[in-house]
Amino acid sequence: MQIFEKDGALLLQKEGQIIGQCRLLPTAQGAQITLLEVAPAWRRRGYGTYLLKEALRRTGAYDPKALRVHTAPWPHNEAELAFWQKQGFVPEAVPQPGACAPAAQNRPGWRLVRRRAPDYSAVQLSHEFVAGRLAAPALCVDATCGNGGDTEFLCRLCAQKGVPGWQVLAMDVQPRAVAATRARLDAAGFAEPQLRTVCASHADLLRYAAPGSADAVLFNFGWLPGAQHTVYSTAESSLPALDAALAALRPGGVLSAVLYSGKTIGSGEKQAVLAWLRALPLAQYTVLVCDFANWADTAPLPCFVLKK
Ligand SMILES: C[S@@+](CC[C@H](N)C(=O)[O-])C[C@H]1O[C@@H](n2cnc3c(N)ncnc32)[C@H](O)[C@@H]1O
Repeated sequence: MQIFEKDGALLLQKEGQIIGQCRLLPTAQGAQITLLEVAPAWRRRGYGTYLLKEALRRTGAYDPKALRVHTAPWPHNEAELAFWQKQGFVPEAVPQPGACAPAAQNRPGWRLVRRRAPDYSAVQLSHEFVAGRLAAPALCVDATCGNGGDTEFLCRLCAQKGVPGWQVLAMDVQPRAVAATRARLDAAGFAEPQLRTVCASHADLLRYAAPGSADAVLFNFGWLPGAQHTVYSTAESSLPALDAALAALRPGGVLSAVLYSGKTIGSGEKQAVLAWLRALPLAQYTVLVCDFANWADTAPLPCFVLKK
């Protein structure tokens, strides 16, 4: 059995014959499915589901990071409606006052829609929280710059709200990460002196940022996305780095740390950092650990420290 594309349709071939097809028109956020059919002799064996899932996959329906919208033709009967509903399609009225859900065989002004909002992420929470805390930043530090996503966020934030002469310091132990950050920020229009990149361990942060000078220090622990998973942060350098970050922060400043655990990296760093966070004196720091309560224990864990 195989699926291949021909003339704008996905064709399902089995035993040398085409037994099903899915026609669709790609859209900016997904696709408009105009036809899904399986030859009568092959129905009720899961081939329709197989074909539909492949069509959804090829048009990005399972991307957790983007808004995706797929539409489908109105079903001919209740069984077909149940089929689409299993894949997340729901009847949606083209808004009309007073309309109610029709029986499956009726279709006035209704369509089937599968809509997926992007997952809310730990990094998104970190960015929103940090942005909400900073009024007029002068120095922000990305202590694990990786591919530069957090650095770009900090540069854009400073460009919008920063004092004249603001600076973002981006650090990483891996030269390839520093190069990736530079390239990304260059493309976004940020360079020296606003952006300073350093290839060094964040444990040495105080060599590059004076005590009491930073408005925000961001840590996004773990490994470099897209690289081998052999280099990742560990408690051995992360704890001294967190100490250094607290010293580098000015009163009113914020530390953001996204913690990870899992098969490859274990949970040693996460547990050590959590113990470190919980031991910080209340008189000097407010500490927040914001877990995604209905995800697995290995979900990224956003944490914040506010320096009083
Ligand atoms: C999850 S990635 C960071 C993602 C990055 N902030 C971004 O937006 O693309 C973690 C990074 O931490 C870096 N790292 C690991 N140990 C480090 C250390 N001791 N000092 C500085 N960076 C370190 C890794 O090289 C990796 O690039």
